[in-house]
Amino acid sequence: MLVSAKEMLNKAREGKYAVGQFNINNLEWTKAILLTAQEQNSPVILGVSEGAGKYMCGYKTVVGMVKGMLEELGITVPVALHLDHGSYDGAKACIEAGFSSVMFDGSHYPIEENIEKTKELVSECEKLGLSIEAEVGSIGGEEDGVIGAGECADPDECKAIADLGVTMLAAGIGNIHGKYPENWAGLSFETLAAVKEKVGDMPLVLHGGTGIPEDMIKKAISLGVAKINVNTECQLAFQEATRKYIEEGKDKQGKGFDPRKLLAPGFEAIKETVKEKMELFGSIGKA
Ligand code: 13P
Repeated sequence: MLVSAKEMLNKAREGKYAVGQFNINNLEWTKAILLTAQEQNSPVILGVSEGAGKYMCGYKTVVGMVKGMLEELGITVPVALHLDHGSYDGAKACIEAGFSSVMFDGSHYPIEENIEKTKELVSECEKLGLSIEAEVGSIGGEEDGVIGAGECADPDECKAIADLGVTMLAAGIGNIHGKYPENWAGLSFETLAAVKEKVGDMPLVLHGGTGIPEDMIKKAISLGVAKINVNTECQLAFQEATRKYIEEGKDKQGKGFDPRKLLAPGFEAIKETVKEKMELFGSIGKA
């Protein structure tokens, strides 16, 4: 059964660890993440971007696949199925399709509009017992080959959004999606501490988990981060393992062309990456 992310994140915040959100792209990704969570007895959040949702034939297909796997793989650890960086309409569609958690990313709107739209979605999620993540201060990332610096959120705006009753809050603290550039200034712990001061016990979310040094991850957790999103790192692990298999000519040996064989090294690489992250975040054994 899918669960809201509320309880697992409140426990994580109290216990000073973080739950990983790992983004899914297809069946192999989903199976790798769910099996690893079960093996490590860790709660987990499956993230679905709007693009990945479309790729997987729509949110209903995603819900069907994930629910089927929970049952057929005998997954008993807490699993939330969460829309990542959703638009207002995307969040509504996921609520309807049976997601247990959504993110509404209104960080690109003026704060009044972000508040207005977040508020409406909070009330819908509350009625259904779903968790909801909001964002203040946009996360940087690559656009047209240029890596934009991540914004630092305004702590008062964070408080205004947190007070709407969201379950968790993503505040920009200089973090970036994808690989970090050489000259990256690092996370702004000053901003994180100021946000924490204003929002109190609200679980905070750190996006752009790929490539953040371990000591920064640990410090962020000590300052109230209870959910960390990882996407690119699993993609890179999958890519490297798949490349190796082909470069070694294994796809041309015997039945090495069989997709179940061809995709196996990438699948194992995702499992390994997810396990390493769960170790670093401290969520192992916390299911
Ligand atoms: P990375 O791709 O940098 O790991 O970021 C993932 C993320 O924050 C998804 O919202």
